[in-house]
Amino acid sequence: MENTKHFDKKVYIETMGCQMNKSDTERILGMLSHFGYEQTEDAKNADLLIVNTCSIRQLSADKAYSLVGVWGKWKQEEHKKELEGKPFRDIKVAFCGCVAQQDKEKLLKRFPYVDLVFGTNNVYELPDLIRRINTGERVCATNETPKKFTDGEEEAKYEIKRAKSLNAWIPIMEGCNNFCTYCIVPFTRGRERSRKPSEIIDEAKKAIKEGFKEITLLGQNVDSYGKTLDKDKDYDGRDVTLANLLRDLNKIDGKFRIRFVTSYPTDITEDLIQAVKECDKVCEFFHIPMQSGNSKVLKEMNRRYNREEYGEIVKKIRDTFENVAITSDFIAGFPGETEEEFLDTMSAIDEFELDYSNTAAYSPRVKTKAAKWTDRFIDEDTKFERLARLNEKNRQACLKSNEKCTGKIFEILVESFEEKDGKIILAGRARNNKIVHFEGNKNLIGEFVNVKITGASTWHLRGEIFSEASIT
Ligand code: SAH
Ligand code: SF4
Ligand code: F3S
Repeated sequence: MENTKHFDKKVYIETMGCQMNKSDTERILGMLSHFGYEQTEDAKNADLLIVNTCSIRQLSADKAYSLVGVWGKWKQEEHKKELEGKPFRDIKVAFCGCVAQQDKEKLLKRFPYVDLVFGTNNVYELPDLIRRINTGERVCATNETPKKFTDGEEEAKYEIKRAKSLNAWIPIMEGCNNFCTYCIVPFTRGRERSRKPSEIIDEAKKAIKEGFKEITLLGQNVDSYGKTLDKDKDYDGRDVTLANLLRDLNKIDGKFRIRFVTSYPTDITEDLIQAVKECDKVCEFFHIPMQSGNSKVLKEMNRRYNREEYGEIVKKIRDTFENVAITSDFIAGFPGETEEEFLDTMSAIDEFELDYSNTAAYSPRVKTKAAKWTDRFIDEDTKFERLARLNEKNRQACLKSNEKCTGKIFEILVESFEEKDGKIILAGRARNNKIVHFEGNKNLIGEFVNVKITGASTWHLRGEIFSEASIT
C-alpha cells in the first residue's frame, strides 16, 4: 500500500520491555505513518501519546502507570484551556503492550484520561481504533484469542518504521506454551504460533536491501520455531525448524549478520548448533536463560531441565565454537528458595562460565502459579540482598569472560562513535555480541572491520583496528 506521506499529526511512543515490544512499536509506527501520524521525539508536542508496556515485573508495570499519570496531567491542563476558551491541543493517550493485554478495561476505569487500550493481539486493528478515538470514543480492544501471524495481513500491508539502527528485528514466532510458574508472558502473548518461512525470508531480504547489516530473529522461545506450521503446506516438505530457517536466511546475498533470541535451553537441538556452525552469517551467540542453578527450584519454576542438563547443552555449544558467548537470565528469591539453593545459582555462573546474565528479584505476577505461594515468599530484604550478590558475581564473570578475549582478533560491526580527548572512539559489536571500543574514522560506521583486542573492562573490550577488510 502506498504511503500518503502527508503528515498532519504527531505521535510519540515510549517503548518498555523486550525486543518483541520494540518490534511491535516499529510496526505500530508504520501503520500510523500511513494515517498521517509522524513520529516525534518530543512528547510535549504530540497529538497522540502511546505507551507500549511490559508486565514482566511489577516495577515495569508501575513505570507505565506513572508515565500515563504524567500524560493525564498534560491532558487536564489542555482541557482547562478549552473550558477557558483558550487555544488548546486535543491530546489522545493510548496504552498498549503486555500490561494492556493483562489489565484490559480496568485501565480505562483507573485512568479516566486514557482514550485507547489495545492489546498485543489488536495491533492490526489500529487504523479503525484511531478513527474511533478521534471521534471522541474511549475504546478497549484486547482480544483474548491470540492473533495468528496470517491474521496480521492487514498489518503486513504497511511499511515497518524501523528504528535508526543497523539491526532489523524480525519476529518469527510469538507466544509461549511453557507456563513457567513465575511468568506472565503466556497470559500477555498467548499460545505459541509461528510465522511462515516465506514471509520471514521476504522481510529479511527487504531489510538487507534497505541497508540493514544485521537481522535478529525474535520469539519468546525462538528455538521452538515452526511447531505450529505444516512442513508440506508451509515449507516444501522440509522440517520447519529454526535450523532450516537459518540455513535459508544465510543464502540471502550480501554481507550481514543473523542473530536469534531467546532460546529455551532444551529446545536447542544438535541440528540448530550445526546450522549455526554451517552458516557464516549466523553469529556465535546464544542467550539461554537458566533462571536458577538449583534443580529443585527449576522444577518448582516448571522449567523442563535440571542443572546437569543445562550444563550439557552449554558444553555442546562450547565444544563446537571457539569464541562463542553464552548468556543467561536468573531470578533471585523465587518463593521458597533457600540460601543454599541460591548459592547454586551463584556457582552456576562460575561452573558454566556464563559470559553475561540478566538478573532480577522475583516479582509476583497475577494469574501465575507461584504468585499464590505467599506462605513461601522470600522477604524483600533477603531477596534484594541476594540480587546484589548475584549482580556482583555477574560483574566478576563478565570481566573474566572479557579478559579471555585479549589478544584475539574479532570482526566488529561498527555501530556508533564518541569524541573523547580529541579522538574518535568507535563502538561496535563482535559476532559474540561483546561491545568493543577502538579509535577510528567515523565513516566506518555500518562497516565490518577486524579489531585486535588489547584490553578488557567489565562491560566492554578495547582494541585497535587490525584490518578494514573482513576475515570471514
Ligand atoms: N522466554 C524466556 C524468558 C522471557 S521473560 C525464557 O524462557 O527464558 C524474560 C526474563 O524475565 C526471564 O528470563 C526471567 O528471568 C525474568 N522474569 C520473568 N518473570 C519474572 C518474575 N515474575 N519475576 C522476576 N523476573 C522474571
Ligand atoms: Fe515465560 Fe517460561 Fe515462557 Fe519464557 S518459557 S516466556 S519464562 S513462561
Ligand atoms: Fe515484557 Fe511482554 Fe516482553 S511482558 S518482556 S514486553 S513479552
